[in-house]
Amino acid sequence: MCGIVGYVGAREAREVVIEGLRRLEYRGYDSAGVAVVDTAAGAIASDKRAGKLANLEKALAESPLPASSTGIGHTRWATHGAPNDVNAHPHLGGSGRVALIHNGIIENFARLRDELEAEGHHFASETDTEVAAHLLDRAVVAGADLTTAMQEVSRRLEGAFTLVAIDAQDPARVVASRRNSPLVVGLGEGENFLASDVAAFIPYTREALELDQDQVVTITAEDVSVTNFDGTPAEGKPYHVTWDLSAAEKDGFDWFMRKEIFEQPDAVAASLLSRHTATGALQLDEVRISEDDLREVDKIIVIACGTSFYAGLVAKYAIEHWTRIPCEVELASEFRYRDPILTRDTLVVAISQSGETADTLMAIRYARAQRAKVLAICNSNGSTIPRESDAVIYTHAGPEIGVASTKGYLTQLIACYLLGLYLAQVRGTRFGDEIAMIVRELETMPQHIQTVLDNAEEVYALAREYVDATSVLFLGRHAGYPVALEGALKLKELAYIHAEGFAAGELKHGPIALIEDGLPVFCVVPPRGRDQLHDKMISGIQEIKARGATAICLAEDDDDEITPYADRLIRLPKVSTLLQPLLSVVPLQLFACELATLRGHDVDQPRNLAKSVTVE
Ligand code: F6R
Repeated sequence: MCGIVGYVGAREAREVVIEGLRRLEYRGYDSAGVAVVDTAAGAIASDKRAGKLANLEKALAESPLPASSTGIGHTRWATHGAPNDVNAHPHLGGSGRVALIHNGIIENFARLRDELEAEGHHFASETDTEVAAHLLDRAVVAGADLTTAMQEVSRRLEGAFTLVAIDAQDPARVVASRRNSPLVVGLGEGENFLASDVAAFIPYTREALELDQDQVVTITAEDVSVTNFDGTPAEGKPYHVTWDLSAAEKDGFDWFMRKEIFEQPDAVAASLLSRHTATGALQLDEVRISEDDLREVDKIIVIACGTSFYAGLVAKYAIEHWTRIPCEVELASEFRYRDPILTRDTLVVAISQSGETADTLMAIRYARAQRAKVLAICNSNGSTIPRESDAVIYTHAGPEIGVASTKGYLTQLIACYLLGLYLAQVRGTRFGDEIAMIVRELETMPQHIQTVLDNAEEVYALAREYVDATSVLFLGRHAGYPVALEGALKLKELAYIHAEGFAAGELKHGPIALIEDGLPVFCVVPPRGRDQLHDKMISGIQEIKARGATAICLAEDDDDEITPYADRLIRLPKVSTLLQPLLSVVPLQLFACELATLRGHDVDQPRNLAKSVTVE
């Protein structure tokens, strides 16, 4: 949420910053702005525009910023103040010496603004950010250097923030500060970078430095120094970024999202790699919670938001089935407000692709304060959620840039299955043979996902058929129910169509009233098995068809029983019920992506959304 870039070095700062913003635009696209130190004039030069980065680029092409070694840039997801030119970042303080960009929310901004206005400061925007710019400006005008000023200002702010600033009278440095909001340092040769995400500097360096909470970092071309807010020296944690530039490029696809859907076989394979021995016994070295402690766990609570929450709902079916440990799944934004019952023996599993989602972060802090153990499932190395958890299972999806999560979701499912099986192994609730058999089946999933992707064209044909739909429903049962919810979410967020997911059995308790002639209803048909889920699903399909709906069925390859009931049929390779979500969600992702494309929407950057929601 909000993309931030800072640069100092021998390159043209304005170009490095704009290039970085291009890679971070998925974090917010309400407005964009850039500022550099105009060394010749001893002043800040900046430009900022409402709307996508392209608007700023156009303005800069007509009226370029001066050459400079030092610059900052921002893409905004609006919180305080409408997404217009004035509220766009950077913001300048009273004297115009300091330019500042911000990600997060400054909760005590109204009080600080009153204080500054009483002193005669004039505010141009409606943002909370501008108070930080004025405070910083006031401090440097009073004689503090930018680093000391940033420490001072950070101590006064409440809320969540990453701030990055430059000072016209101190052109050799860029200073940043962070609390509960992402910031990484890119370590170059004779140049250094600051960004909300490594994607911004990956073309220049893969060496990064992770910062802790409440720290201030100063970069010059040759040096990086870190302090706490009180000025005491601190150290960042260096790490190497394992993915390369091509992972952050579209590779010939029209959208990052489509590319990421097609990357799912690889992402799933990478997330399974090295997680088991040749005999199928699981080895999750990263789970730093002792086996004794895991044996004591008497309840699991999964917390997450959005698509990650739907991964958690699938996890519940698998974990309870394999481990017999009661498992609740809770929206992270609701969790700490309902006074949940947590003990030392509760295992909280926090699922977050970005590792920065504020609702999830606050929920894990609450859980840890109640002494529960927290295990994160996360795709972003060095992000806040795994750092603040007792243990982490990293997914290896690579960077997910499309705002709507796809490969992030599939790899979260893999991590949840691995966790469930690992707990079953540690607690002895399943025999080694059975675990090894499920692991072997997991190993076949990349190939099965590829088979589903090979049939993308028939899903695209469906999207063409329903391009003018105004409402679409999704039905599922068992582990297919969360898939229905996810299919509906994808369609809502990308195509802006009314879409809802239901447990098929629940339909007759109300939602069936929505069914009318021609309404497209996706039905995720469970594999045939010993339970009666498959037959019950057929009954549900008959009920909707009797009322005029068009049943679009997703069913396994040799499921002939479904054929007479399906108006349209998408075939899925035959796998076990618990693992079917890895396949059944894929056509729903493709459908939403294609339908949104046909309707002319920006699939990677849907309206009103942002990747990585770092405000509560
Ligand atoms: C939807 C989507 C969101 C995220 C949610 C949580 O396609 O991407 O619903 O799943 O904002 O984000 P993370 O997993 O980063 O915590």
